[in-house]
Amino acid sequence: MLKQDRRTTLNADQKNALYADATKELASITEGETNVTALMATVSCVLAEKFDYYFWTGFYIVDPIKQNELVVGPYQGTLGCLRIPFGRGVCGTVAATQKSCVVDDVHAFPGHIACDSRSNSEVVVPVLDRTGALIAVFDVDSVETGSFDDIDKAALEAIMAQVFAR
Ligand code: SME
Repeated sequence: MLKQDRRTTLNADQKNALYADATKELASITEGETNVTALMATVSCVLAEKFDYYFWTGFYIVDPIKQNELVVGPYQGTLGCLRIPFGRGVCGTVAATQKSCVVDDVHAFPGHIACDSRSNSEVVVPVLDRTGALIAVFDVDSVETGSFDDIDKAALEAIMAQVFAR
């Protein structure tokens, strides 16, 4: 079955249980690994596999040369756009503010960048290193509207801290 055809509504307990599993698995798989590309690829893969409503799952990295621009990093899903300026769309807004964002309907979000028109809702969280510097944002899109809530946001923030700020 194609990923975009798998539509699943989870209740809060089911979501929390899957995030608890993913958090435990990622702690064990990434233990001792410091390579950021390997960590980003692993986080994208484990989370995309775990959640049926994750349609696009991945990282936009702060470009080391153009510091006010994001460039696509490891991801799972359909083709993502390559670059996003700080302040544009959901990812660019999260990079500029360093505050997570849950969007129930991306088409109502000013400046939303439609990499794939099938995406309808998303959650984006900032990714900080151990010094507190922004290194990337983590973006998850769903084909359904309203897929993400505070459970997704809090769990993803905790996973990013566990993997990238230790
Ligand atoms: N939805 C994002 C763009 C990235 S893609 O969806 C993969 C945004 O508006 O920032």
